[in-house]
Amino acid sequence: MAAEQPTATTRPRPAPGSAAGDATAVAHPNIALVKYWGKRDEQLVLPWTDSLSMTLDVFPTTTRVRLDPGAGEDTVTLDGAPLEGEPRRRVTAFLDLVRERAGSPLRAVVDTRNTVPTGAGLASSASGFAALATAADAAYGLGLDATGLSRLARRGSGSASRSVFGGFAIWHAGQPDRGGDPDLGSYAEPVPVPVAALDPALVVAVVDAGPKAVSSREAMRRTVATSPLYRPWAASSQADLAEMREALRRADLDAVGEVAERNALGMHATMLAARPAVRYLSAATLTVLDAVLELRRAGVSAWATMDAGPNVKVLCRRSEADRVAGVVREAVRGGSVHIAGPGPAARLRDADA
Ligand code: DP6
Repeated sequence: MAAEQPTATTRPRPAPGSAAGDATAVAHPNIALVKYWGKRDEQLVLPWTDSLSMTLDVFPTTTRVRLDPGAGEDTVTLDGAPLEGEPRRRVTAFLDLVRERAGSPLRAVVDTRNTVPTGAGLASSASGFAALATAADAAYGLGLDATGLSRLARRGSGSASRSVFGGFAIWHAGQPDRGGDPDLGSYAEPVPVPVAALDPALVVAVVDAGPKAVSSREAMRRTVATSPLYRPWAASSQADLAEMREALRRADLDAVGEVAERNALGMHATMLAARPAVRYLSAATLTVLDAVLELRRAGVSAWATMDAGPNVKVLCRRSEADRVAGVVREAVRGGSVHIAGPGPAARLRDADA
């Protein structure tokens, strides 16, 4: 069967009309089917394990980076409001990295528009830093290729390394002990998947769109440092990855779903065993998980995955997504339900498009 990707995965080209020092990029969130959970290097954002995801065709983030020669500091806004505290510090630290590489002292005006609820475990940092990396690369004239953009986006947020690509992507942890520059070995790249045969959809059940009490950054730090289940999960995750790649190659949705669900539940088990425990799964999450089990009992291929929040993403066939969404909508009552397919790579576009 011929490998096919639904979307472009090549390096974004400057959009017509994007001037030097002013660039706008759009990127989509991704959902990991084999999770990233735990860093071996906090500074460089190097993970302990490889991970694999599907970029979505919903909830894009659009970010404009405009260099401001007169400014003494960066101006950063999210959905029109100034960004404060730690989120702002992460953006300015990221821009410092870009400035260092570009040999430029110039501050920037960064304007980000999210269409995904921020901080709710729906990967807003993935689309956010993939868009920021793509726009900042163009505005500061770094000229990175897609691999370079993925490495750069990784420094903002690990999962952002995967949102540089459309369709399915694997993020390589990189060899910890191979010597050389550890930064170079850790980047994402596209995974060839027969998408038409797999016919995948993710039904996103937003049971709670509020910000989470514990950031994923802090939660994974605590898990690695204190959870007796972390190492066993990391070891089993490498085996999950091999099985996942094989299942994707065969376009075997049930095998993909089975591995994704157990990998996610295992990740949450590591957090539940952390000291103190981190529990993102709520009563509403479990209600959706019960509905997913019921769907499977009724013969529908439906498999759940959860990230650093209570929301559930249900992997199913696109052809059955409406039915799955209907059952999930009943279960979430009051929450919102969205159907996502494989989405496009991060790319530049006109500021006013
Ligand atoms: C549970 O990429 O948000 O969504 O690198 O600290 O910014 P930082 O973490 P982040 O973590 C995402 C973790 C996850 C699983 C995944 O996306 O692989």
